[in-house]
Amino acid sequence: MRIIIGADHGGYQLKATIISFLRKEGFDDVVDIGTNSADSVDYPVYGLKVARAVAAGEADRGILVCGSGIGMCMSANRIPGARAAAAYEPFAAKMSRRHNNCNILCLGERFTGRDLALEIVSVWLREEFEGGRHARRTELLDQ
Ligand code: RB5
Repeated sequence: MRIIIGADHGGYQLKATIISFLRKEGFDDVVDIGTNSADSVDYPVYGLKVARAVAAGEADRGILVCGSGIGMCMSANRIPGARAAAAYEPFAAKMSRRHNNCNILCLGERFTGRDLALEIVSVWLREEFEGGRHARRTELLDQ
């Protein structure tokens, strides 16, 4: 599974933590598009870049981190084919996969602590889409 990951200055530290976690868990195809410092940047630049890569099939999943997860989620969902969800706890992450076939997870470094964030990532990567009636609904998103 290729995972593309990006952050703004509000999320770059959690991004680094997630990348280390992913490698430790055996997800070794991780593409990091930055940012990698506290210097202020604009979250849509990173959100749109990750969403375009996922929508184009250049990556299987995307992870975006900003201060809240909200700006990244708004940005990613502007791209047809991107199904981004901001999750603050594991059940939302699980349901975003099962019912919405979420392909981009958005996290907020200022809202979610390290261990909880890694639990959210872990659940989200392992849960499968249920398909069926949910597939009809996700197809409607792109029409
Ligand atoms: C940056 O200060 C902050 O606005 C950004 O990281 C994010 O939370 C936006 O939604």
